[in-house]
Amino acid sequence: MSLSLSNQQLISIANEYGTPVYVYHAEKITEQFNKLKSAFDKTNARFFYAGKALTNINILKHIRSVGCNIDCSSINEVKLAVHAGFEKQNILYTSNGIAFSEIEEAVSLGVNVNIDSLSNLEKFGKKYGHTYPVGIRLRPNIMAGGNLKISTGHEKSKFGIPVEQLDKILALVKEHGLFICGLHIHTGSEIKDVSVFMKVADIFFDLVPNFPEVRFLDLGGGFKVPYKEDEEGTDVALLGEKVNEVMQKLKQTYHRNFEAWFEPGKFMVSECGYFITQVNVMKQSGGTMFAGVNSGFNHLIRPMFYESYHRIENICNPNAAKHAYTVVGNICETDTFAWDRQLSEVREGDLLVFYNAGAYGFEMASNYNARFKPAQVLVIKGAAHLIGKRDVFEDLLRNQVEVL
Ligand code: LLP
Repeated sequence: MSLSLSNQQLISIANEYGTPVYVYHAEKITEQFNKLKSAFDKTNARFFYAGKALTNINILKHIRSVGCNIDCSSINEVKLAVHAGFEKQNILYTSNGIAFSEIEEAVSLGVNVNIDSLSNLEKFGKKYGHTYPVGIRLRPNIMAGGNLKISTGHEKSKFGIPVEQLDKILALVKEHGLFICGLHIHTGSEIKDVSVFMKVADIFFDLVPNFPEVRFLDLGGGFKVPYKEDEEGTDVALLGEKVNEVMQKLKQTYHRNFEAWFEPGKFMVSECGYFITQVNVMKQSGGTMFAGVNSGFNHLIRPMFYESYHRIENICNPNAAKHAYTVVGNICETDTFAWDRQLSEVREGDLLVFYNAGAYGFEMASNYNARFKPAQVLVIKGAAHLIGKRDVFEDLLRNQVEVL
């Protein structure tokens, strides 16, 4: 039975901190990390939490405290990681489409860097030659992931250096004496099929002889977690076994030791998160019963942006008969969280909880319609702590320069 927060805990947090509110459960994050550790216990594996999923500093500190490393997608994420106490060798910066100056800054902080364009690789070679090890992000031309917007490995994707440009990479390595310490491929998000990761491993297998100094093979993140009641996530135990097999084979074939690196985001924090909203308005219209909550895509954009399914429950009336409700927000746009969803009878004032709200929930929130971003609460050892204040009116004006 995996860890979760009870309805009672969520109701009392809503009463204390108001709604809408994001709630995170620290021990659930630990549980997820432990699953990974035990799945890969035979392999020389390192895990770098994809911080982009949720960067609240307390979450980062908790993740560090359980022994996980961190993957960053911007220099500011790198700085947050440093602030959270991660040591530089445990920070990875997987850059994409950035100005070279950000890479210089990452180097000055001494963190691991993955580069994803020939252009930046060339600049890197010119400036650092063999003095600073660097990983290269490749594009494998594999289509995988929950939907096109979160698929990053296909041949129309902007990410990584296409594998077919290997000659160009090798020419740069030769010309500048680059110290290529790692190869990186992240194929997408919500990949259930273990064989996708094994295809990536096969690509690495063929590439490795070209890079005598490579010591890590980074298979990215993208493990699927269940969003629906009856859904299964990536079988990480199976993945662990398969990766172990291929790592053994690599060792036997090339007589070199490699580390397998991973960058899980959703796997680490999706299920630890709950987003609690309150029903403002019930509206009957034609055949539809709308439940209008005090939120919208300004707070949780995944359903509208990716058509993602988030399980919803009415925690104030959990045992009542179920009916179909279309759950919408209060933004002046069509911000439908769910169409005709079966929920136990909903009344104005009830609390509707969205599950799997830890990853890319608050992190993608905005102040659209001049609404406040929600508060964030962390439950650790049974106690709730406010870790992010709800905006106040002054926040809406904070960065505005009034010239009139
Ligand atoms: N590594 C790299 C280089 C990535 O680009 C990503 C995600 C990850 C790791 C972590 O992927 P995860 O384990 O979380 O699937 N906002 C979207 C997901 C975007 C993912 C972007 N990159 C969503 O809410 O579905």
